[in-house]
Formats: sequence, C-alpha cells, structure tokens
Amino acid sequence: MTLENKKIGLVVTGGIAAYKSLGLVRELIKQGASVRVAMTKAATEFVAPLSFETLSKNRVLTDLFSVKESKYVAHIEFADWAELMVIAPATANIIAKMANGIADDFVSTTLLATEAQKILVPAMNEHMLMNPATQRNLKFLEQNNVQIIEPEIGFLAEGYSGKGRFPELNVIMSVIQASFEDSDKPLEGKNVLVTAGGTRERIDPVRFIANDSSGKMGFAIAIEAQKLGANVTLISGISQLPDPIGVTTIRVTTALELSEAINKQFDDQNILIMAAAVSDYRVQNVADQKIKKAESTLTLILEKNPDILKHLGQIKQNQYLVGFAAETQNGLENAQEKLEKKNLDLLVLNDVSNSAIGFNSNDNEVTLLRPNRKNDFIKQTSKKQIAKELLATVISDLAK
Ligand code: CTP
Repeated sequence: MTLENKKIGLVVTGGIAAYKSLGLVRELIKQGASVRVAMTKAATEFVAPLSFETLSKNRVLTDLFSVKESKYVAHIEFADWAELMVIAPATANIIAKMANGIADDFVSTTLLATEAQKILVPAMNEHMLMNPATQRNLKFLEQNNVQIIEPEIGFLAEGYSGKGRFPELNVIMSVIQASFEDSDKPLEGKNVLVTAGGTRERIDPVRFIANDSSGKMGFAIAIEAQKLGANVTLISGISQLPDPIGVTTIRVTTALELSEAINKQFDDQNILIMAAAVSDYRVQNVADQKIKKAESTLTLILEKNPDILKHLGQIKQNQYLVGFAAETQNGLENAQEKLEKKNLDLLVLNDVSNSAIGFNSNDNEVTLLRPNRKNDFIKQTSKKQIAKELLATVISDLAK
C-alpha cells in the first residue's frame, strides 16, 4: 500500500463529475490513505455527502458554521490536518476563488488556509475551461505551486466532444503517489545554480541581437530542484517568466553579465545547470546613437563572448556540471563533442529544428549524454517532466 497513513483531504466541488470522486476515495483508501472529504453546497446537489462519508469513514465537511464545538475551528483543523489536498472535480468557480484568495464557504476557506500541497483536477465544459479568465487563473495557480492535472478530451456531459473531462482515476492516483515521492528531499543541503533564458547583445540604443529562448526549460529545472529541497539560485537572461517562489533569482542581459554573475556564485555550488542560451558573439563597437540607414549594406563586427561553461569545466572542483546543446543537425555527434570539450558530467541534447519541442514550446524531447555511460532518450513530454527526469539522473549520479 503506497499511501499508507498519508492524510489526504479531498475537496469536491459542484460538477457532474463529482460522482467520479467516489471512485477516487475508494482507490485512496485501498492504498492505505486516511481520507477526509469536504464538499461545496453545489457538490452536495450532485452526490449525497453520505456516499462520501460511507466510503471515507469520516464525517463530510460542508458548512463553515455547522460544527458547534468551540474547542476547534473546523476548517482550520482540516486545513492543518491534510498533508495533501486534492480538489476533484474543480469547477471554474473554485479555481477563480483559489486564484483570487476568496474565502466565502467551508471549502474555499480551507483551501486558503491550508499549507498542504494541492492537486487540482479541473473538469467542466470546454468553453468554461478555455475562457481566458479560467486559463489565467489556472496559470496563476500553477505558478504558485498548485499541481494541475490536465482535463481529458472526450465526450462531455453536454452531449458533444471537447476538452474538460475528468481524467481516468489511474492518472490522478499516479500524480498523487508521485507527489508523496517528491516530498523526499534528496537535494536537501545542496546548492544548485541554474541559468535560463537567452542573452541579449546591444547593437545600438534601440536594437539588439537575441535568440528564441523563452527560459521555460531552465525555470522548470529551478522549480523542480527547489521542490527536491535544494537551495536554488536562478540566473536568468531574457525571459518573460516570473521569479519562481522560493528561488533566488538574478536577472542579467548580456553574456558578459551572465558570466560575471555565475563566477560570483560558482565556488559555493554543488550542481550547475547551464540551460541559458548564451550569445556566442557580441557587437564590438556598440553605437551610442541609433544607427542611421545610409549604405545599401551594413557590416557589424562581432567579437566572441567567453564560453562560460567551458571555462567552468576547466576550473571545477567537485561541482556536477550540466550543459545543454541546442542542435539543428548532427545532434548526437556535436553533443558528444561538447560533453568532452567542456568537461561536463551531463549534457542535454535537444533538437531545436523541431518547433513542437525546444525553444519557446512547453514540451521538449531530449537525449541525456554522460561520460562512459549509455545515452538516455526522453521522448516528447512537458519541460516540467524533463526537469524531473534530468534531476533524477543527477541525483542518482551523485549518490554513486
Ligand atoms: N554556453 C556557454 N557560453 C557560451 C555559449 C554556450 O556557457 N558562450 C553553454 C550553453 O549554456 C550550453 C552549452 O554551452 O549549456 C552549449 O551551448 P551551445 O550553444 O549548444 O553550444 P556552443 O558551445 O555555443 O557551440 P555551437 O554554438 O558552435 O554549437
């Protein structure tokens, strides 16, 4: 029983999928978890609290003011008791309340009060799901450490097919199980430096040389490393992403600034993960004033930036060094060469010629190369999942 004695709070809100959460309670109990259920008033219109009460063998909480015992405040007691809160199904309404800190009933007050990890299982009509307000709220929650299980595409209660279905129970169960595995902190006490985003080199006051990096891969690594207990410093070049909570974030613009910021931190680090897309060249003479168009051609002289990672590979003490290789052709060959030339412990190869993965997309597909080891291929998945698998490889190497 993989969830033996885990305290799981299940929050059921008012959607047609509410009855499916009965099955979730059974699965959780089968795995040994203690389950307590809270329901919104709307949820009780779909499924009687007694069904949840019978399966969980615990009283179902619905009303802020129903518990008259003065010795404890029910929603706070429940909020503090749970190690994990699963909100399933989550309606657009509860998602909006959570994203905006609204606490006007038992469920929303509990969710505002709890410090437990939260897993959200949205299930609703496709148009409600895709509404920009719902999408904005989901994005906000995700950035604030709420784990969201994507609704499935399929036949909806409305009689047509679309995105918004409650996922299969085995999907929800595996996310719940993984969330407890994550609560091990294998990187506790380790200092991890991650770089992300692209650097930008000035040409004149209004123009620059840049690249397509969004920072998504590096930010995902920083967030996952922090969850695994590391002290994470993130040095980001240009990226629109917000500073991750719990991560010390330093923003830089040019390759030289990135190099300087890394050099200040490097000695104290155990692991360095260089996901930034560093400009190999900078403009030799940056113009003070906007360059006027004059001749039919314009020549910019570029000079080489330092290869930051190569330098770190030369001076490293015990640091574990991870590099990225963005390739459009001869990937494996070039990556193997970079692994050796830069004296790395691990190199992540991604093929940036495929727009479904790599720069700016939410997914990636990579090959992990390590000295004297066989390569590991991770097929297309979210950057978050790649980050997890990459860190798992680093952790297993460090344990040897
Ligand atoms: N890198 C770096 N400093 C640079 C260029 C790259 O530290 N001036 C790092 C990148 O962050 C990445 C790795 O080196 O982790 C490989 O980057 P990539 O652009 O794929 O390779 P380059 O070494 O620049 O070689 P090339 O552009 O010729 O493929």
